[in-house]
Amino acid sequence: MERIEARRALPMVGSLKAPRRAEPGPPPRSVRVSVTDRCDFACTYCRPSRSDGYAEKRLMTPAWRTMFEALRRAGVERVRLTGGEPLIHPEIVPIVSYLSSLGFEDLALTTNASQLTRLARPLREAGLGRINVSIDTLDPARFRALTRGGELGPVLAGIDAAIEAGLGPIKLNTVVLRGVNDDEVERILLWAWEKRLVPRFLEVMPIAEGAKLVGDHLVTATEMRARLAAHLLPEEAVGETGLGPAKYVRARRDPGLRVGFITGTSDTFCATCDRLRVSSTGVLRPCLATDDGVDAAADARAGDASSIVEKIGEAWAMKPDGTIWKGCTEETAASVSMRAIGG
Ligand code: GTP
Ligand code: 5AD
Ligand code: SF4
Repeated sequence: MERIEARRALPMVGSLKAPRRAEPGPPPRSVRVSVTDRCDFACTYCRPSRSDGYAEKRLMTPAWRTMFEALRRAGVERVRLTGGEPLIHPEIVPIVSYLSSLGFEDLALTTNASQLTRLARPLREAGLGRINVSIDTLDPARFRALTRGGELGPVLAGIDAAIEAGLGPIKLNTVVLRGVNDDEVERILLWAWEKRLVPRFLEVMPIAEGAKLVGDHLVTATEMRARLAAHLLPEEAVGETGLGPAKYVRARRDPGLRVGFITGTSDTFCATCDRLRVSSTGVLRPCLATDDGVDAAADARAGDASSIVEKIGEAWAMKPDGTIWKGCTEETAASVSMRAIGG
């Protein structure tokens, strides 16, 4: 059985400041926006507890409008709303409507699906293109334990509501943890294919609470794929141009079905990363795994989109050197708040 030690997977680069890319390249095409750091779950790899506190200085909706306008002006084509849990933002539907009116090429959202029964249709009508849903287990008791109190039933109903509303293609995210849910990988694959969804299996990343789990609970994508080999075509996994880090393999029984693997720990996709992130507090962040960023909150609140466009350039120039593992160190990654910066 293959196991990777956290330390081996995360070489230290000797400094808390990530080395910069020599040439930052063209402006970001793709942005992930954490519209809120609040969440109704507290997944064990993300939050230490349900009472770990929230940021006080979140952007309000008028400030978000300015931020989105600036992103559009800066040439961004793809926006993904994340959290925390974006669907517990009380104004998520108007936010999606506004984004939709700006004409982005791709408008997507990542959710835990707890509110989707109620929101799938309004979101679709507001112009949302597609969603990705986190689901780590199909067992209600396990679900409760992994999310620290979440209920599986509404999540499953929410996924069905999203299918019905036409929010496709729907991709799923399952973080696979050894000894916790790794016995469910095949079951989740077959359940997802039955619904013609795209299951994706994620290595736990040494980010936020995940840093405590990598050593004992990491299951690598190579191992996951070996376990699923009977269901998969023996082909090289391929990514989707311009989209996220997942690499996909087709089903043996129907090449229209596929499964994705996200190798956030055993491999690096930093060299090809074209993403900027915006935190729930309005900080423009060049990388998931470092605390670097440019604070654009005051400009957003003042309605100054031009100043944000400039800051987007500044933040992008801070993109870490993609030839080093995530351009980061164990410390920088572990100190990041996944839900504040949007995963
Ligand atoms: P699409 O490919 O556009 O459908 O989206 P996605 O897979 O990028 O979005 P999603 O929010 O579902 O993210 C899935 C997982 O990939 C999450 O755990 C993210 O944290 C992780 N991820 C997304 N982008 C990056 C990245 O740039 N670097 C790293 N290390 N992880 C990422
Ligand atoms: N490692 C891997 N994935 C993580 N996510 C949150 N924290 C981690 C981590 N430490 C995933 C969630 C969600 C996505 C946005 O990020 O499961 O699907
Ligand atoms: Fe909430 Fe997503 Fe973090 Fe789970 S992983 S606690 S659903 S933000």
